[in-house]
Amino acid sequence: MGQLAQVLCWSVILKLKAPVTPFQISFCCANTDPEPWLAGLHAALPQAQVSVWQPGAVAADIAVVWQPLQQFFDEQPQLKAIFNIGAGVDALLKLRLPPQAVVVRLEDAGMAVQMAEYVCQAVIRHFRDLNAYADDVRAGHWTYYKPRQRSDLPVGVMGLGVLGARVAQALAHFEFPVNGWSRTPRALDSVRSFSGAAQLDDFLVSSRVLVNLLPLTPDTTNILNRDHLSRLQPGGYLINVARGAHLVDDDLLALIRSGHLSGALLDVFRTEPLPVNHPFWREPKITITPHTSARTLREDSIAQIVGKIDALQRGQAVTGVVSVARGY
Ligand code: NAP
Ligand code: GLV
Repeated sequence: MGQLAQVLCWSVILKLKAPVTPFQISFCCANTDPEPWLAGLHAALPQAQVSVWQPGAVAADIAVVWQPLQQFFDEQPQLKAIFNIGAGVDALLKLRLPPQAVVVRLEDAGMAVQMAEYVCQAVIRHFRDLNAYADDVRAGHWTYYKPRQRSDLPVGVMGLGVLGARVAQALAHFEFPVNGWSRTPRALDSVRSFSGAAQLDDFLVSSRVLVNLLPLTPDTTNILNRDHLSRLQPGGYLINVARGAHLVDDDLLALIRSGHLSGALLDVFRTEPLPVNHPFWREPKITITPHTSARTLREDSIAQIVGKIDALQRGQAVTGVVSVARGY
């Protein structure tokens, strides 16, 4: 059954049951304090019974998850909808999910502006040599660096979805030349758009800074490799804010050491937390942040999830439904 058909089918079932029949929400989110989420969901959906999942718990209609265990789904084959409290669903799609359940991810929910501010500050820091000024000032030196031309710093944004489009447009406001790359063609004001595998090389050779905001799928795993990164203009700079498995770590280190890339800002890693012996910790041209570029905001996320549960109950289709086949 297609995704839309699944949504409509499930929404019809819920509509028939609502509002007299209470429904169950099962919450299973790694590294998340459940209590404020349960309180927020219950306050907005008083007809729902909301509980933290434990092995053997009562079967639910709806799941709210982040990196759940396979056992969670094995015990709940009846689930009708799965809400992921993040934008990326790569960890979720590694599991065997109930085939009839719709998978819904967060769309923005306060993350897009965070991502825009993170990436813009990074590009501006790089463009204005602010790291070098900070080092000089710390050493007691009053020095000047020659101002660069914006036209010499075209920024390429990989992924023009909810987050990538916001980032590309924020960069364009600062008058950087902006290129964007997506799977299907996307038209955005002030962004030169490229799409599909056939235009990837043209996109890369037109960019000096590369910002990765792709979802992690079989097609995009290892996409930040030596071949692709070496196509960036000399002195290129990488900002990876999507997933660690997009990047081939050794290829990045080799290109920085050869001088083709001037450095990188990395927010995501293959293993998180980044292992203490990983060479990224010791490479001075790499800056690390601990997967914090765009955090899930609880109130915004609850409001979005509740709005979608309400819409489904009214028989309306919702956005943000993941295509399991496509991987995002
Ligand atoms: P989204 O709305 O689904 O956008 C994905 C974009 O990637 C779309 O433009 C899509 O193309 C493009 N794309 C997918 N596969 C592609 C391919 N094979 N070739 C070229 N383009 C491809 O996702 P989002 O909400 O912007 O989030 C993007 C990712 O950011 C998430 O998946 C997550 O991994 C990451 N993230 C990280 C953090 C953090 O704190 N570091 C926070 C939130 C999210 P189409 O437009 O043609 O579909
Ligand atoms: C965070 O990485 C997310 O996918 O929301």
